[in-house]
Amino acid sequence: MKLTCVVIGFVLTGLAHALCPYAEQALKDPQFLIRHVEEQNTAKEDTPKEKRQSGPGNIPFTTFNQNQLVDVTGSHAWVAPGPNDIRGPCPGLNALANHGYFPHNGVVSLPVGASATEQVYGLASSFGVPLTVYATLVDGDVVGDTWSIGGKQPQTLTSPILGAGDGLSGSHNKYESDSSVSRGDYYLYNGDVSSVRVEKFKSLYDLQKNVAVPNYNLDVLIQHRQYTFTNSESTNPYFFSAPFAGLAVANAAHTFVPALMSNHSAEYPNGILDKETLKSFFAITEAPDGTLSWTPGHERIPDNWYRRPLGAINEYSPVSFAQDFVQLAAAVPDAATVGGNTGTVNSFTGVDLGDITGGAYRTTDLLNPTKFVCYFYQLTLALVPDFLRSEALGSALAGALNLLQTEIDSFVDPSCAKIANYNDTFAAQFPGAAVGQP
Ligand code: HEM
Repeated sequence: MKLTCVVIGFVLTGLAHALCPYAEQALKDPQFLIRHVEEQNTAKEDTPKEKRQSGPGNIPFTTFNQNQLVDVTGSHAWVAPGPNDIRGPCPGLNALANHGYFPHNGVVSLPVGASATEQVYGLASSFGVPLTVYATLVDGDVVGDTWSIGGKQPQTLTSPILGAGDGLSGSHNKYESDSSVSRGDYYLYNGDVSSVRVEKFKSLYDLQKNVAVPNYNLDVLIQHRQYTFTNSESTNPYFFSAPFAGLAVANAAHTFVPALMSNHSAEYPNGILDKETLKSFFAITEAPDGTLSWTPGHERIPDNWYRRPLGAINEYSPVSFAQDFVQLAAAVPDAATVGGNTGTVNSFTGVDLGDITGGAYRTTDLLNPTKFVCYFYQLTLALVPDFLRSEALGSALAGALNLLQTEIDSFVDPSCAKIANYNDTFAAQFPGAAVGQP
């Protein structure tokens, strides 16, 4: 583009004024644009990792291709989980296991976690890799590099000494959070965070009740976010929203619904999430009288379901999430805040991120997508070592820390502020934080 400007600047004087913002300077100084282009290229080369981290975000799709069809036949035909198969709080992951994109037993290796979420849903590896690394290190088997999408995974040769992690279902406040899309809060259901609470799902479902063309898009999920936040605030005295599990994961779970579950077609290249598709992904069935029921572990990718297109500019990256987050935060500011109830309902108190991150990030910084993405990666790098050190890992600790650095580092823009002094004393005022803090 800028090289085009160089040519235009030299050849078409009048038109160049209109087309190229640098034309005037170029006409006075023929070397100007060449220098300018070189400076731009040098600046890009100096920060190659920024390119990897930053996708362009949420640009509407204008084209559709048949290759977006997700195979649910043959080895990917839906098979219900058996009694020894693990399923958990994430409908997207449960469906992958039911369709053979993940091992059917629900225990996933690090590379499969990231590649299957990308191939099936279009989750960018800049998002899927950190999510999978975090799952492995915080609630998985750090020696075997596997993690469970639900409860504890079976013992392995190394796990009697080191533990194989508690799985996503046992990761309250580390990964799993209160105020989920359809699952219940930890203290309200004796620690059962994996079961769909049908009333909660219904509150989402009914948001498109009398709509001619139902579509659970971001606006609808933001409306639902208002409900899920207020619901936890007004019913759970121990409601807590942690810096990673609450602020990042619980909000991402809401934006993932339209971003990753919508069905794409020539008619709707940008995707549409109708009632049948939503129910299928959430393992919900509807009786003729409208009664909804949930069948545990029966999450299913619908037939004829087309994911979002692949490729760096199309996949759902941390930048895409940061942009959705800004919209969500504008509508439900408390949901974009670390904090919790202080032992009674409706006592939600927020904490400024500056006090938690040693001043590296303030809560308002999250409204800037670039800073939000920095926060997402830097928080992972700051939190995981604390979680790891709180386990008795012995010699495995060094390997785990090394894995964290090598896997996450390549996504991190070096200009991001580092969280050198993570301070978890803020959590003492929230009784709900007693579970799962480092
Ligand atoms: C490696 C990738 C992933 C990991 C580690 C992961 C993990 C999790 C965890 C821990 C939760 C619980 C959050 C909470 O308690 O609020 C969750 C919820 C959720 N996830 Fe995932 N997830 C991943 C990918 C996906 C994908 C690809 C989708 C969409 C297709 C998805 C959709 C959801 C939704 C909708 C929820 C909310 C569930 C509910 O409340 O009913 N996730 N995920």
